Amino acid sequence: MADEPEIPNLYVSAVAAQSYVEGVLKGNGVPPENATIVAQCLVAADLRGIDTHGINRIPSYMARIRQGVLDPKAQPTLHEITPVVAQVNAHNAFGFLAAHMGMAHACKLAETYGIGMVSVKHSNHFGMSAWLVQQAIDKSMMSLVFTNSSPALPVWGGKDKLMGVSPIACGAPSGRERPFILDMAPSVAARGKIYKAKRRGEKIPIDWALDAQGRPTDDPAAALEGVMLPMGGPKGSALSIMMDVFSGVLSGSAFAGHVTNPYDPSKPADVGHFLVAIKPDLFMGLEEFKERMDYLYKRVVGSEAMAGVDRIFMPGEIEQLVEERRRETGIPYVQAEIDALNDEADKVGAGNIEVTEGSDIQGFSMQSH
Ligand SMILES: NC(=O)c1ccc[n+]([C@@H]2O[C@H](COP(=O)([O-])OP(=O)(O)OC[C@H]3O[C@@H](n4cnc5c(N)ncnc54)[C@H](O)[C@@H]3O)[C@@H](O)[C@H]2O)c1
Repeated sequence: MADEPEIPNLYVSAVAAQSYVEGVLKGNGVPPENATIVAQCLVAADLRGIDTHGINRIPSYMARIRQGVLDPKAQPTLHEITPVVAQVNAHNAFGFLAAHMGMAHACKLAETYGIGMVSVKHSNHFGMSAWLVQQAIDKSMMSLVFTNSSPALPVWGGKDKLMGVSPIACGAPSGRERPFILDMAPSVAARGKIYKAKRRGEKIPIDWALDAQGRPTDDPAAALEGVMLPMGGPKGSALSIMMDVFSGVLSGSAFAGHVTNPYDPSKPADVGHFLVAIKPDLFMGLEEFKERMDYLYKRVVGSEAMAGVDRIFMPGEIEQLVEERRRETGIPYVQAEIDALNDEADKVGAGNIEVTEGSDIQGFSMQSH
């Protein structure tokens, strides 16, 4: 009989989470201004309900620093290629820093030339792509955010892992309504959902994963020994290859299955990213563009719902609603997560995370994760 999953009932404010992460990063040799950026990106994921890519990643990132395969002190550098194109060499710094620098530059180029494109090489995992889309939206820019990642998916028809579960993200600002933020991995289901089914003793749909022998399985334990399956069959596989073409092949980073797995301590990850910022008022005034985005939003959420659906959302809207809520209540964690985070703090003499036992906000169930 599988254990019942623990309900997250320990709440941490965004400010406390930020302060905790900054402390641990500084304790591991990350310069203070860089620690602030990395912490903001991780806390942003937790605020939006993307708990798989938030501050719980700290122990695995710190392990890579200790293993000498992620450089805590490295400073990415930027090289201008054409008036609208630049390349960031991350020098094996945190992916958050390299991508943040890249998107800031892409937005600056777009402000002047209408478009800015930045390729990033020799980088690391940058977590939830949506923080980069939001960085562009904060500058009133549309964006494309691509990355590659370590092998997790077979290509369509294949049996072994080759492509990454590499997210595709893009976004556009709006006027009075919520902006459009698409951020999706090209797998049928997030790996975290398989862990959850295992904990609960549940079966998984047969199209989520293959076992170690390459057979479709409804057993989550067998699925975790095997591979994830791409969403939409050959289409999801093609999208993961697309992420590799734009992020890996083009940039000069690792590609074709050679990005290092985060749990392989033998060498740096060598991840590549591809970032584009586009000025939305190229073909009309900004106000008109925003009005058109608002109209699109209303048409989308105003669609007549199918049976069993209470409400229709714009991509990114559920996460924004979770964020609004979590900014008030704090971010929920389980005790084991808090313990693991505090272990990391203790290793470098940084402050433990400040927790309050809060009311149960899990009833807020619009989140799809
Ligand atoms: N950096 C990496 O290597 C890496 C790898 C994998 C995943 N990730 C991150 O993991 C996160 C989760 O990815 P995912 O594919 O599981 O996301 P998901 O399936 O939960 O959501 C995908 C997209 O669909 C939208 N969506 C979901 N439910 C919706 C609904 N009911 N109505 C309207 N829109 C809806 C979401 O807003 C989102 O834009 C992402 O933030 C991604 O960047 C990162």
